[in-house]
Amino acid sequence: MSTQAPSNLSLDVVPETLDSAGDLAGKHIVLGLSGGIACYKAAELARALVKEGATVQVVMTEAAAQFITPVTMQALTGRPVFTSQWDAREPNSMAHINLSREADAILIAPCSADYMAKLLHGRADDLLSLMCLARPIQSVPLLLAPAMNREMYAHPATQRNLAQLQADGAVVLGVGSGFQACGETGDGRMLEPGELLADVIAFFAPKSLVGQHVLVTAGPTYEAIDPVRGITNLSSGKMGFAIARAAREAGAEVTLVAGPVHLSTPRGVARVDVKSARQMFDAVSARVDAATVFIATAAVADWRPAAAAEQKIKKDGSGQVPQLAFVENPDILATVAASGRAQSGALFCVGFAAESHDLLAHAQAKRLKKRVPLLVGNIGPATFGQDDNALLLIDAQGSQAMERASKLQLARQLMAQVAARLSSV
Ligand code: C5P
Repeated sequence: MSTQAPSNLSLDVVPETLDSAGDLAGKHIVLGLSGGIACYKAAELARALVKEGATVQVVMTEAAAQFITPVTMQALTGRPVFTSQWDAREPNSMAHINLSREADAILIAPCSADYMAKLLHGRADDLLSLMCLARPIQSVPLLLAPAMNREMYAHPATQRNLAQLQADGAVVLGVGSGFQACGETGDGRMLEPGELLADVIAFFAPKSLVGQHVLVTAGPTYEAIDPVRGITNLSSGKMGFAIARAAREAGAEVTLVAGPVHLSTPRGVARVDVKSARQMFDAVSARVDAATVFIATAAVADWRPAAAAEQKIKKDGSGQVPQLAFVENPDILATVAASGRAQSGALFCVGFAAESHDLLAHAQAKRLKKRVPLLVGNIGPATFGQDDNALLLIDAQGSQAMERASKLQLARQLMAQVAARLSSV
């Protein structure tokens, strides 16, 4: 099949691959567009898929071409778009067979209400539906990103079609909620390109944690001195959020208890925001019985002011500084790890240690002190706020280094390590 753009087209937008994370490297995605205003988001989605290393072949219906031009989609993917089953470019005249055999997945985004009804009935009167029907059902998954008005989405016919399409093996990626192009507000918007990208990446991830419920703490805690001041720790929360995302990608149910951070919640993760160590302790205590894995990445403040002032402590010009007394915060990890479920192996606990030196010795000592089967050490000053890190895993057998990489890559490796330990008990 030809992958060259016709020479009369100037491709100003060159698909980027150099700075991508490459999460979809080697994957070939057939991106189908049916008719709907959400086609404008498909352009950004195509670009995002390409950036992650996928090759993207666009197939559009006639209706889709009313909303966005094939030229745009070709420019973004670097491949001529297919719109007709009568396309003469395929030597055997069988675009529907050729396109579907090459795909690692077919993603229809947007998938209109009408198009879902069509797929449901196995109709095949345009190239996209013909290709979906002709796809080898066991090896080429079909992912659908519905997009429609809220009344159309809520209609029993649409809901029935969605359920039946899922029963027939399609993966429905859900819808967003909010302001719609028609002026109404409700469910049915197509997910944003970034959300769809995360779902596609997660779809391909090895499902090593299915059936597990992973509870993660992340970020710093903030301990108030008065209404405008407090003490906290250096922590961006990035490692913990990456772990929550990786655990979700691996198929776990994930709850993330987050201190004050400026990070968006990973797709499919339930998030509970807290401020202080005691709030974090309470949030964890209320949820840990449902968990099978507890991963404590939070940089919890060791102490808090013994009493937070109700009003701002004023500087009175005398040169006298306030005398602050501190009390120790509960150790969340040590408390959870000492529980009966953790000690019996029903709850697998993972601790983190951020050190400045002698990582191995400190991390080994911390593993024993906290009574956890697995402790992950890192050099704090080398990773605070960064997108990458290097880890040292300590368990009863010894230690294992994980080379410097992005926090997401390390989180995925760590989840594979956790999964291996869960399956060996
Ligand atoms: O004792 P230290 O703070 O170095 O221990 C770090 C590990 O313990 C991390 O996993 C951290 O999330 C956890 N921790 C906790 N509650 C505390 C202090 C630390 O869960 N109060």
